[in-house]
Amino acid sequence: MASPAFIDHDYDVVVVGAGGAGLRATFGAVAEGLKTACLTKVFPTRSHTVAAQGGVGAALGNMAEDRWDWHMYDTVKGSDWLGDQDAIEYMCREAIPAVYELEHFGVPFSRTEDGKIYQRPFGGHMRNFGEAPVQRACAAADRTGHAILHTLYQQSLKYKAKFFVEFFTLDLIMEDGACRGVVAWNLDDGTLHRFRAHQTILATGGYGRAYFSCTSAHTCTGDGNAMVARAGLPLQDMEFVQFHPTGIYGAGCLITEGARGEGGYLTNAEGERFMERYAPTAKDLASRDVVSRAMTMEVREGRGVGKDNDHIFLHLEHLGADVLHKRLPGITETARVFSGVDATRDPIPVLPTVHYNMGGIPTNYMGEVINPTADEPDRIVPGLMAVGECASVSVHGANRLGTNSLLDLVVFGRAAAKRCAQTITPDTPHAPLPKDAGEHSVAMLERLRTADGTRPTSAIRLDLQKAMQADAAVFRTAETLEQGCRTVDAIAETVADIRLADRSMVFNTDLVEALELENLIANAKATIHSARARTESRGAHAREDYPDRDDDRWMKHSLAWVDAAGAVTLGDRPVHTYTLTKDVDYIAPQKRVY
Ligand code: FUM
Repeated sequence: MASPAFIDHDYDVVVVGAGGAGLRATFGAVAEGLKTACLTKVFPTRSHTVAAQGGVGAALGNMAEDRWDWHMYDTVKGSDWLGDQDAIEYMCREAIPAVYELEHFGVPFSRTEDGKIYQRPFGGHMRNFGEAPVQRACAAADRTGHAILHTLYQQSLKYKAKFFVEFFTLDLIMEDGACRGVVAWNLDDGTLHRFRAHQTILATGGYGRAYFSCTSAHTCTGDGNAMVARAGLPLQDMEFVQFHPTGIYGAGCLITEGARGEGGYLTNAEGERFMERYAPTAKDLASRDVVSRAMTMEVREGRGVGKDNDHIFLHLEHLGADVLHKRLPGITETARVFSGVDATRDPIPVLPTVHYNMGGIPTNYMGEVINPTADEPDRIVPGLMAVGECASVSVHGANRLGTNSLLDLVVFGRAAAKRCAQTITPDTPHAPLPKDAGEHSVAMLERLRTADGTRPTSAIRLDLQKAMQADAAVFRTAETLEQGCRTVDAIAETVADIRLADRSMVFNTDLVEALELENLIANAKATIHSARARTESRGAHAREDYPDRDDDRWMKHSLAWVDAAGAVTLGDRPVHTYTLTKDVDYIAPQKRVY
């Protein structure tokens, strides 16, 4: 193919992705006086942040006394001691000003009688270092992500941020180990673009769509993670995939944990509130990994509900129509539409469903991407940052607490913008790009666009999703993981036989899905190979053959490199066992008690 004709652009900062983290980074950088562009494959307010429901965590103490160091303790404990405590301290401290900032931006939070931001209980949110539940989830009914995303987009408009909407970013442009910008395809007119930037911030979200049943939007295909892998950089802690206890049975849609926060509870086929057996203190509000495992055990042991005894009931009917209407209107409607249940009268059928990726692109707490060596475990990749679900900061470690995701987006989106302001002088000229910059990415695009095999993208994707669902599930064993590695690797080979029907460059969704499939495969490979290697149980990674956490061997971040041929190489890097300031002490590993 002749050299592609690129349209070239120069910016101080390029942000890829326009969910909560991408938007907060974008207008933050603009506010710092930096020439900033945001590239997004969907219109900003369609980003997956819109689906977040229950709340954003911050120790405001509006309902009862609360403290950021209690929030920090819960987050470290929730992470099963895989979180980096400097980053966790940063997030939990910054949570309080971050939520007030959201309020001042205009987020329509629900209110207490005396006009303060309403806060509800959530799994793992406790007062006084684990003593008793505390109400810490700042909520806008059960549409908190929707409220935040729209407000952040409005702020971006206020700052006149420059958006490139329906631009599919293909790859990073790397030179001598540094990121120089990105190559992108404009879906609207089929043109190809190169963006030079002094900092490229990936905010591309998770890869829930590697699984068959997930709460994630169809757009959650791990594009940024895959770009990083193709650039020869590692992904971190990819084996830690969070299952949310209450996805609607059969549909996967999220029923917020806030439903249990408001007093909802789970029962099995015997009508038993079984969480009392598994987590006598926290019960239905134990952290997600614990509740998901308990539900799976109930089903496995024959106590599931329904004609196939294969799911669990979530009861809200005792809360009354008024509470459901005021506090949980969104999920009441979701239950009606997707399960045909009137939640004011009947229990909702639910099952653990993939919800969040704790792993992703390793970064420090300022959002800078890490490419570790044995001597320099925190070595920074010049010019590259990552924020939001695609990043592994790591504040969530092996298991994220509910509401810490919306928090992560705004805290680290802002931190990344501030770091850009510290490291970039506005309008600094760019060095020329390497002569062939972007050509390899376009060759890969062309390979797919003209692919004439026998298997449609949807068939290969379904194989992948079913394999991940079966073999990288809530419970894992050497056998399932070995099988999973073989199956996923074999599925990856079948991409050589992919068939695309649409050959155009203009809004070719066939091609978008094929590119996304390749991205999903890179993520899935890193996940299942890392999971096979980690011979312990920690957080969301529950090995039946290694039921205990093994801090001596495994209190470390796993790293996975996926090379161009699809081979996976594994490594590791130390967990940060220190805090950011002397205000708090390092929290040493303890046995988790629920
Ligand atoms: O259950 C929920 O509302 C989800 C919240 C979260 O994942 O943080």
